Amino acid sequence: MTKPLEGIKIIDFTHVQAGPACTQLLAWYGADVIKVERPGAGDVTRSQLRDIPGVDALYFTMLNSNKKSLTLDTKTAEGKEVLTRLIKQSDVLVENFGPGALDRMGFTWEHIKELNPGMIVASVKGFSDGHHYEDLKVYENVAQCAGGAASTTGFDDGPPTVSAAALGDSNTGMHLAIGILTALHARNRNGGKGQKVAVSMQDSVLNLCRVKLRDQQRLDRVGYLEEYPQYPHGSFTDVVPRGGNAGGGGQPGWVLKCKGWETDKNAYIYFTIQGHAWAPICRAIGKPEWIEDPAYMTASARQDKIFDIFGTIEAWLADKTKFEAVNILRKFDIPCAPVMTMKELANDESLRASGTIAEVDHKERGKYLTVGSPIKFSDLKVEITGSPLLGEHTNEVLETLGYSSREIAALHEAKAV
Ligand code: COA
Repeated sequence: MTKPLEGIKIIDFTHVQAGPACTQLLAWYGADVIKVERPGAGDVTRSQLRDIPGVDALYFTMLNSNKKSLTLDTKTAEGKEVLTRLIKQSDVLVENFGPGALDRMGFTWEHIKELNPGMIVASVKGFSDGHHYEDLKVYENVAQCAGGAASTTGFDDGPPTVSAAALGDSNTGMHLAIGILTALHARNRNGGKGQKVAVSMQDSVLNLCRVKLRDQQRLDRVGYLEEYPQYPHGSFTDVVPRGGNAGGGGQPGWVLKCKGWETDKNAYIYFTIQGHAWAPICRAIGKPEWIEDPAYMTASARQDKIFDIFGTIEAWLADKTKFEAVNILRKFDIPCAPVMTMKELANDESLRASGTIAEVDHKERGKYLTVGSPIKFSDLKVEITGSPLLGEHTNEVLETLGYSSREIAALHEAKAV
């Protein structure tokens, strides 16, 4: 079966996480992704947080599967010539260098367009073009602070807090992948003309913080936010506060203790009090008298005692593990889930069966786990292959660019590859 993106050739000039997450996704779906790396060193994540001496780190292997690796020093004349040939033959160039690095290499958008008018150049930067911080280099947590996630995450009496989820890195990569696919679609319709696609990490974080901008405008108008724990007993300022574990929509929710929480830091469930599920909740937790009680019947009646209600639910949870609790609550149609640890997720049978947790073979490391495609297709089975060794495909790629074996040897000799 032909893979959906087969025949799309991508120059993968990415490093660390934001760019590699994007190109890895496209490689899974069939694109020919050629990762261009500096000779001798490669992507910095090959050696960051290593768990086996001398072997590519999981940081690299989990973000660069299904790709080829070409080593190339693009600051040498010979390296620039190789890149020029590659650009002429490719569909997309993806990069997440610091601001201006591609231009300083001599590959401005104008020059790339001249070489290949069909080329799509896709970039990740910390801030968007023309932004007053456009010159800044940016990593994950910097983006989470700049994009509004940190000021709205954590507890009211604690500092701004970053999320463990890669809202700045992988999330930006996913936005970029959507941009690339859109530009490829546009190219098919407008006579093969490429374009520049740019995504900033700040914008991508803010896009996921959309509901917090909603809350800012509600706060400006009415002065309080009834779903936040500060309501009605605490106080609000003029900015959206940190809401702890409160539900972000119209459904109150909180993380509740289950059996064993005293010794197990993750013996908790997330419990949601969905408005129309009030009666089943009361039945489930053994409080049928609350169903018709005017002091509890409506969401607004419950609001000022929501933490007392959560306390009652916690008392009911005290003799149930998080898994037992969810097994009971699911029968009452209550939106809830156990707080899952990475260890539990790694061994989860459903995630293994669906391919979301995938075991991959690597030439030097042996088997390791990765997160497979979160997108499932009826006509595509995503197969994940191990990440390439540094420069593993250099000669193969050079041959496809028309270099003879003598010329390839000369490029090695000149340390251009
Ligand atoms: N051959 C020759 N030179 C190469 C090369 C190659 N194959 N690949 C990279 N380089 C050079 C670049 O041209 C640049 O040179 P210059 O600054 O002299 O012009 C140099 O390597 C450094 O690149 P840079 O991307 O700025 O690396 P850094 O380690 O200083 O910064 C980041 C890392 C991630 C902070 C920065 O790349 C960045 O802000 N990227 C955009 C946002 C982003 O993606 N952040 C990370 C998310 S995981």
